[in-house]
Amino acid sequence: MPTVVSGIRSTGNLHLGNYFGAVKNFIEMQHHHDTYFFIADLHSLTTHPVPQHLYGNVKQVLAEYLACGIDPEKATVFIQSDVPEVSELYLLMNMNAYLGELERTTSFKDKARQQPDNVNAGLLTYPVLMAADIIIHKANLVPVGKDQEQNLEMSRTFARRFNRMYNVELFPIPRPYVFEGQDMVKIPGLDGSGKMGKSEGNAISLADAPSVIRKKVMKAVTDSGPTEPNQQKPEVIQNLFTLLDVVSTPDVVAHFDLEYNQCSIRYGDLKKQLAEDIVKFTDPIRLRIEALLADDVYLSKVAKLGAEKARASASKTLQEVREVIGVKKFY
Ligand code: TYM
Repeated sequence: MPTVVSGIRSTGNLHLGNYFGAVKNFIEMQHHHDTYFFIADLHSLTTHPVPQHLYGNVKQVLAEYLACGIDPEKATVFIQSDVPEVSELYLLMNMNAYLGELERTTSFKDKARQQPDNVNAGLLTYPVLMAADIIIHKANLVPVGKDQEQNLEMSRTFARRFNRMYNVELFPIPRPYVFEGQDMVKIPGLDGSGKMGKSEGNAISLADAPSVIRKKVMKAVTDSGPTEPNQQKPEVIQNLFTLLDVVSTPDVVAHFDLEYNQCSIRYGDLKKQLAEDIVKFTDPIRLRIEALLADDVYLSKVAKLGAEKARASASKTLQEVREVIGVKKFY
């Protein structure tokens, strides 16, 4: 059975991009695969979160994951820092990751630009930790959104390099997972360009109240409207249609598409419909998040069970890696 690993940073609430880019796919996969889903709290340290916030963020994301439908009885759900074997593999893999390739990573260059006063080594070696997360469970498939394509390509490089260096077939080469016939997903933000992101201020969170969602959607950037029938949609408008595509029914999308093509579209109507369809989708999840957040006993039970299962798998691989490298005990 193929093994699947995916994760999410604990830097903020889960948003629609996270859901449709990654979580949705792995919810479906948990029924037929050996699945590991985790909260990357160590990765989030690259941005220096306040210690008091870190724990709360992890708890929030854990509740959100479960509220989406990830079933801890089927999948192994855990917190990255509960599995110290990952940190050791990260250290070992760092020895075969080269400065030039790490510096060229787009996400590193972006982050270095965003936080010029905090260009730390953790940011540089972020893809190595991500590779360790994935290969420690010998994953074959990784459901991620388009923005993680390059990081995943680096995981493939590191896995391949390790196998080649030591002339072993220890690690499968992990592939990004998308449903057949689909491309990797990129959910746009509400600000007219780029992707929906936690730090971009353009996201709709699964935990947002309906009134907040309505306000955010009504403020989404548009243009002055089509001037010719059947003209191509500019990015700002295409973005709204992309969101409509994931939350609305095909006939709703077709209706607004036709109105756009006939130049009779009223963006206010489109936004109202989009907001209601998002609310219809997120509201049951939001209510489940609230219930889960109030159940500390259940959350800690899930985290403990997940940590045990993840450690069992991780320590087995780590032992094999140590032997291959030649790190052996004298006692
Ligand atoms: P993170 O926390 O930024 O995002 C979690 C997942 O959500 C996807 N995603 C999106 N997909 C489509 N459209 C968007 N606008 C959008 N925004 C986010 C991401 O692609 C990702 O799949 N480095 C990872 C966390 C990580 C990880 C791993 C993932 C650490 N180790 C191992 C997979 C396997 C990250 O920062 O994701």
